[in-house]
Amino acid sequence: MTTNAELHERYRAVLPSFLKPLYDDPISIERGEGSYVWDVEGRRYLDFFGGVLTTMIGHANPAVVEAVRNQAGKVLHTSTLYLSEPMLELAEEIAALSGIPDARVFFTTSGTEANDTALLLATSHRKSNQVLAMRNSYHGRSFTAQAITSHSSWSSTSISGLAVSFVQGGYKLRSPFRDLDDDAFTRAAVEDLQQIIDMTSAGDVACLIAEPIQGVGGFATPPDGFFGDFQKVLANYGILFISDEVQTGWGRTGEHFWGYQAHDLVPDMLTFAKGVGNGITLAGVVARAAIMETIEVTSFSTFGGNPLSTAAGLATLRQVRDQDLQGNALRMGQRLRDGLQPVVERNPWIAELRGKGLMLAIETVQPDGIGPDAGRATAVLEACKDHSLLVGKGGLYGNVIRITPMLNVSPDEIDEGVAALAAAIDAS
Ligand SMILES: Cc1ncc(COP(=O)(O)O)c(C=O)c1O
Repeated sequence: MTTNAELHERYRAVLPSFLKPLYDDPISIERGEGSYVWDVEGRRYLDFFGGVLTTMIGHANPAVVEAVRNQAGKVLHTSTLYLSEPMLELAEEIAALSGIPDARVFFTTSGTEANDTALLLATSHRKSNQVLAMRNSYHGRSFTAQAITSHSSWSSTSISGLAVSFVQGGYKLRSPFRDLDDDAFTRAAVEDLQQIIDMTSAGDVACLIAEPIQGVGGFATPPDGFFGDFQKVLANYGILFISDEVQTGWGRTGEHFWGYQAHDLVPDMLTFAKGVGNGITLAGVVARAAIMETIEVTSFSTFGGNPLSTAAGLATLRQVRDQDLQGNALRMGQRLRDGLQPVVERNPWIAELRGKGLMLAIETVQPDGIGPDAGRATAVLEACKDHSLLVGKGGLYGNVIRITPMLNVSPDEIDEGVAALAAAIDAS
């Protein structure tokens, strides 16, 4: 039998050292079914991370498997030089769901490439290389996506053709405005935005890009309406608003289908990736036609919108819609929150439980303040694994535990996860 340890050795020998598997003793997931996975040594885990919110409606989901199998037996790839029906059907569906008027959809293969495209569009449309992004943001690993990432442990270069200013964001716990109530906090951030525009821009600014809830940043969640107030300022200058929905899309936040909908605004563009293919590579950008059509030359992504990915996307979205998985995210998210609240209250080294729906996080700190305690987050992560539960880690200082069950998680699975988390947290 292959062991986890053997695979770890091979991983270390052949992959770059900037790839960092979770856990002191990393595991290899051999198979999955619904909310559960099994490692190569046969041990079963409840999966409350989904490979970073990417397996969204369960491992080996029968309808997705069937759609992929079916499509694989017909044709795997044709490219946008041809008229693929699954691609068109999915584009029509996403355009209608996006809330963006006169929407056009361009499919890519990753969230990074989707954000790259959104920046290409915004900077071309506005004829400006000036971009606003949020502090504590993460938008991907390419050269351009790194330029709008504000997270020193994830920023691999400061070199860029973009001129980026970082605005005070929704990470209230570590904001200089943290002592203000939500309305005053939002007003302070809006004033900061205005000042950044007045003090750091030279002529037109192309866009502001934001995650409605910051993913890698540890599910930092601004008050509802925060970005709507931002957009009122941006509109005075024609600055485009791009909503990065890579983690917040498809009903995960429970209250809404898209994260931006908590903010009373309509974005000019949104980007998506991760969960929509339920593990198959599928991503893209939605923009108003007037913005999308700024690119007049031929532009093309070889694998973007391929029949296999879009068949998986259609099967995933159909279940999200037909089984009201957004409603399930709301109900199960509340159950998860209610279960974790007492655990959080009895452990003074947890600063807060935050997030929405099935996108919840706890931040670990020194008990006497908000000084980050990454060691405690690592201890919780490892202890969860000991209790056969997979969760994620993140946050500015690696001191946040991210909890993101499948959108179709059951009440029993939530209760099992809460029990494991409670035992892990109390033991850490
Ligand atoms: C909010 C957000 N945007 C973009 C990306 C980049 O997506 P990908 O890793 O598919 O390139 C990520 C990845 O974690 C993300 O969380």
